[in-house]
Amino acid sequence: MLPTRNRQILLHSRPNGIPQAENFRLAESTLPPIGDGQVLVRHHFLSVDPAMRGWVNAVTNYSDLVPIGGVMRAFAAGDVIESHHPDYKVGDYVVGMLGWQEYSVVSTRAIRYKIAQLDLPLSLYLGALGLNGITAYIGLTKFGEPKPGDTVVVSSAAGSVGSAVGQIAKALGCRAVGIAGGPQKVRWCLDEFGFDAAVDYKSPTFVADLQQACPQGVDVYFDNTSGAISDAVLNSITFGARIVICGTASVASWDPWPAGPRPERHLLVKRAKMQGFINLDHDDLYAESVEQLSAWVRNGQLHYREDILEGLEQAPGSIADLYTGANAGKRLIRLKVV
Ligand SMILES: NC(=O)c1ccc[n+]([C@@H]2O[C@H](COP(=O)([O-])OP(=O)(O)OC[C@H]3O[C@@H](n4cnc5c(N)ncnc54)[C@H](OP(=O)(O)O)[C@@H]3O)[C@@H](O)[C@H]2O)c1
Repeated sequence: MLPTRNRQILLHSRPNGIPQAENFRLAESTLPPIGDGQVLVRHHFLSVDPAMRGWVNAVTNYSDLVPIGGVMRAFAAGDVIESHHPDYKVGDYVVGMLGWQEYSVVSTRAIRYKIAQLDLPLSLYLGALGLNGITAYIGLTKFGEPKPGDTVVVSSAAGSVGSAVGQIAKALGCRAVGIAGGPQKVRWCLDEFGFDAAVDYKSPTFVADLQQACPQGVDVYFDNTSGAISDAVLNSITFGARIVICGTASVASWDPWPAGPRPERHLLVKRAKMQGFINLDHDDLYAESVEQLSAWVRNGQLHYREDILEGLEQAPGSIADLYTGANAGKRLIRLKVV
């Protein structure tokens, strides 16, 4: 029998800065009827992403704000349990912008892709084979333009995007240097993800450690943090370096707009290029990215860490941890599938 009730996490109030548990509330509702062209998806995993901060804060962002009272926007992975669309059948596994909820009744526009072959764990399609892995792949290959022998530095290196960036850099013949918070995350970079070097940005010797880790300078900087970490990296960029702006995790709030050192002189003197990118603009590269990333997971060249919380009730407080570094890899919420 198909479900009739749904549990959802709604945006309760608008945060200024990092969203906290009290900005959300759990609600129950009746599932709407499934219209023509729609499918009913049962969610198995919900994604927790740093980007969610931007989706609820009233400062400049690349997408519409989640309205107060609206279901929290989120990627989710699940199976189709009823379909009124000819291209989807019951039992298909899908990933999409389906929201922090147990079920979704959606038109197929909300679905980003159908998983062709589910021989790898479903959760991976929200992490190493999902938003994070795809972001790492597109950001590095398209915007970082890495060449064999380049030194590629990435911040948040033990995280989901950063760990993939380092491993993709290695697969492409580059030297990978990670920047992460604390000795344990530095060890993960070296021992689990195979970085050539990794440094702890919380150490008092960070700036000297970074220079030592990059004796030939930095050809590609994949920036997940902005802030003081990036200021230190920019001092070491090489002639013609590429700086890929992927995230700004170290900036707690953009209201008021923070002041900081200016990168222009480094870019000018080194004829370097700095470019921001948003994964969602590059749908056309998803299939190719997932195919390549899956091949690397299957042959053991791409390792990943997952940090899984159990149950929808964990969702409201789950974003804030990403901004203290308390997550140990890709943060997900696992739902009980009945
Ligand atoms: N442009 C795009 O399309 C796109 C798409 C997806 C993700 N992203 C960005 O990619 C980055 C990584 O995302 P993810 O999902 O893989 O998250 P993640 O790296 O798994 O988790 C976030 C990490 O950010 C670091 N961090 C938090 N606060 C910090 C601070 N004040 N200073 C320095 N580091 C801090 C922490 O690592 P430490 O413990 O090492 O400090 C934390 O574990 C984020 O900035 C995200 O916004 C961008």
